[in-house]
Amino acid sequence: MKILFVCLGNICRSPLAEGILREKVKNQHLDWKIDSAGTGSWHIGEAPDPRSQAKAREYGLDISDLRGRQFSKLDFDDYDLIITMDRSNYKNVLALADDGIDQNKVKMMLSFNPDPIEEVPDPYWDDDGFEQVYQLLDKATDELIKQYQ
Ligand code: 4NP
Repeated sequence: MKILFVCLGNICRSPLAEGILREKVKNQHLDWKIDSAGTGSWHIGEAPDPRSQAKAREYGLDISDLRGRQFSKLDFDDYDLIITMDRSNYKNVLALADDGIDQNKVKMMLSFNPDPIEEVPDPYWDDDGFEQVYQLLDKATDELIKQYQ
């Protein structure tokens, strides 16, 4: 399984999702490829936001070596699933899809969760938002593994 997580900046939500799923996949000996990207270009080459790094560390994960990159339509050729954090990311990624095969690869992260909440909130302007983001991503990655392992 090849999975790409996508948010806006690729410094807060999607690198945290990448770190969480990488750890679970490693522990369960699954041969999955996992990466993350942003629809925006502001943070290309940057390490994850210090608040995401700290939240990851709190749960025993080190995401300090990840670097921001921008989503490209070439990613449709390399991944089975392209999982977006909110509706805006979803629309922006879908706009780059060439055909129905590409379109079917694009999913909303919280579509895997039974919770009524539909989007992973952008925590960039909310220092207190990172715990909720972690909890949502932790649940959704569990569901992803259940569904695709
Ligand atoms: P992310 O959060 O999409 O979860 O990485 C953001 C990071 C940076 C910005 C917005 C959201 N920004 O405007 O620079």
